[in-house]
Amino acid sequence: MISLIAAIGKNNELGKNNNLVWSMPTDLKYFREKTSGHAVIMGRKTFEAIGRPMPNRRNIVITRDKNYKKESIEVVHSLEEAINSARTSPLPSPYKGEGEEIFIIGGEEIFKQSMNLAERLYITHIDAEDKKADTFFPEIIPIVWNEVSHEAHKKDKDNPYDYTFSVYERI
Ligand SMILES: NC(=O)c1ccc[n+]([C@@H]2O[C@H](COP(=O)([O-])OP(=O)(O)OC[C@H]3O[C@@H](n4cnc5c(N)ncnc54)[C@H](OP(=O)(O)O)[C@@H]3O)[C@@H](O)[C@H]2O)c1
Repeated sequence: MISLIAAIGKNNELGKNNNLVWSMPTDLKYFREKTSGHAVIMGRKTFEAIGRPMPNRRNIVITRDKNYKKESIEVVHSLEEAINSARTSPLPSPYKGEGEEIFIIGGEEIFKQSMNLAERLYITHIDAEDKKADTFFPEIIPIVWNEVSHEAHKKDKDNPYDYTFSVYERI
């Protein structure tokens, strides 16, 4: 099972200047809860934006640089290699009756290449827009994706915008 997970704005904004566009602590907690114990696959730029390996997860970083090395991550040179590697040493799945879930966590380049491989999307829709965003999530086409879960939240003292945790599954 391959899942994509992202927090996006009204126009599918993902990032700006190699960073997140908005700071939404409750979304970071949701991301941590969903991905902990799993393999997480990311592009080299997203890894560098995060700045360190994420604990309790197998961190798999995709780059074309054959000399790229950092402590506590696995470096691979294609999306296919990343997925094969995640599949070879699966961690136990928290979902009864399902195989291991592998999370692809971005950014734009990696989401574009993996959208057609994914079976599930965890999307946090942030009710905000930013004209200066420079990376975007691919279009979520309604005839392809069915929203199976929708949890709306109002902004609060920690989270400056209304947001919705949506889960989509491929139809
Ligand atoms: N809102 C969210 O949920 C979210 C999630 C993730 C990321 N982001 C944001 O997204 C932005 C980064 O996205 P991005 O599209 O610029 O970068 P990215 O997808 O994170 O990384 C791109 C890099 O991945 C490597 N790569 C991509 N395709 C490859 C392939 N087929 N084979 C080998 N290597 C490949 C290349 O690394 P080399 O250049 O080293 O060869 C490429 O430069 C940041 O602003 C980040 O904060 C947002």
